[in-house]
Amino acid sequence: MLLEILQVGSPVLRETCKTVTRFDPALCELLDNMKETLKEAKGAGLAAPQVGVPIRAVVVDVEEGYFEFINPKFIWKKGEQTGPEGCLSVKGKAGTVTRPDKVKIIFQDRNGDKYSLVARDFFARAVCHELDHLDGILYTDLSKDVHDAED
Ligand code: CO
Repeated sequence: MLLEILQVGSPVLRETCKTVTRFDPALCELLDNMKETLKEAKGAGLAAPQVGVPIRAVVVDVEEGYFEFINPKFIWKKGEQTGPEGCLSVKGKAGTVTRPDKVKIIFQDRNGDKYSLVARDFFARAVCHELDHLDGILYTDLSKDVHDAED
């Protein structure tokens, strides 16, 4: 099922999201719907608060593949990259953001199993952007040149 993607101004986008403790059918349904919604929107990532659910769950779809990160946490961040960013909750805008260019995270999957992962380049940028959503941070808070996107 396609979910409505909330836009900037929605209070839930500014919440500190809650840790997921129940790895149940409701979580699976939410993740399936977030995956479908992300594909339809042709985005690189979507966080649960963007669809109105303030829990620590994100989906990411990049060159490296499709990923679901539940309760993700950074282990380390290295280097720096500066580049353009947008957000499905800030329609029609883009802005330059400086991010780490390599990150290691730990996370759980939809079954509650624990994993770690190293992401580089654009994947690292997407991970940082999505994890920020779980703490109520939007890329527009970090960019000095938010402007109308061309296209
Ligand atoms: Co976003």
